[in-house]
Amino acid sequence: MNQLEKPRTAVDLRKVRINPNFWYPLAWSHEIGRGKVRGAVFAGEPIAIVRTQSGKVFALEDRCAHRQFPLSLGVVCGEHLQCGYHAWRYDEHGQITSIPYAGRDTALPPGVRFYPCREAYGTIFVFPGDPNLAERVPLPDLSLRDSPDYKPMYFSRQVNCHYSFMHENLMDMNHQFLHRRLMGRVKPELLNTSTGDGWVEAKYHFHHLGGRRHFGSDLLSIGGDSSEKTYDIMTIRTEYPYQTLTIAGADSDSPSVRLWSVYVPKDHAQRTNQSVGILMVRKPRIPGLIYLLWPLLRHFTESVFAEDRMAVEAEQRAYDELGGDRNYEVYPVTLAVRELLATRGLAPKPGSEV
Ligand code: FES
Ligand SMILES: [Fe+2]
Repeated sequence: MNQLEKPRTAVDLRKVRINPNFWYPLAWSHEIGRGKVRGAVFAGEPIAIVRTQSGKVFALEDRCAHRQFPLSLGVVCGEHLQCGYHAWRYDEHGQITSIPYAGRDTALPPGVRFYPCREAYGTIFVFPGDPNLAERVPLPDLSLRDSPDYKPMYFSRQVNCHYSFMHENLMDMNHQFLHRRLMGRVKPELLNTSTGDGWVEAKYHFHHLGGRRHFGSDLLSIGGDSSEKTYDIMTIRTEYPYQTLTIAGADSDSPSVRLWSVYVPKDHAQRTNQSVGILMVRKPRIPGLIYLLWPLLRHFTESVFAEDRMAVEAEQRAYDELGGDRNYEVYPVTLAVRELLATRGLAPKPGSEV
């Protein structure tokens, strides 16, 4: 049987929409100063993120209720946002507070949608789903980012594929062959996998197969305690909709690095995502060494990411050309993460199934 004859599974994961009832990072805090507004997008929904003069952050549908002009082109006035076209004014709940040229007896029309918004870890998180659920859904735990023992490195890149390819790529460490030039000859050995309510985790032991150790892979343990020689336990966890990769020693609770990431769909079809990540790197004991190594670590991680991006974008292209998911997946960890993404996401829109 060739791959065109492969039977299709019940649900096409590449059409499963991400669940909007979570907090998604749509901007870094430093990108929106006081009195500024900026456009963002979640799965085809344009969102204007505003920082008022007092420093408060709020998020509105990025279309004016009047003529759908983008509110992200507006002007912040005190604690309100004024549309850049005819100067209608909005408050943080998207209500219209004034139409400057309207007579006194003109009823103010309904405003625009607002999105719950929170700021933490140098990041602005927006809740694109049901606003009534936002209070009950916690922000991701990025406490290492605020620890004085760690230094954060930020990533945000557009990747032209469905978010599910990203989760599968990271969860399946058997793809180290793709990174052979950067990582050297490493052999990931799966130690165990576990699953729970909303999460899948895989723990690997990385063996170096003789020959020269690569500087790149050594960089990932720069924060290692000097008494501990090896940081070769890698734990990858998809805790819907986020993902973490942690490198630690066998007996250490404080990892040398932890990457937290999430793949925010950009378009309606969710075939493009903004891959957002924070890499939290434990500072080495030698003061200042981290600053010396920082550009090298940045270069190394960007290079690894570029290889991953090349692979997942090729997967998306093949999916598009073949008109569906033709994968023969044999790896239980990947099958588990696929199941998690399919069950936690929203079913494909009616009529979008092949
Ligand atoms: S389009 Fe916004 S005020 Fe007219
Ligand atoms: Fe990779």
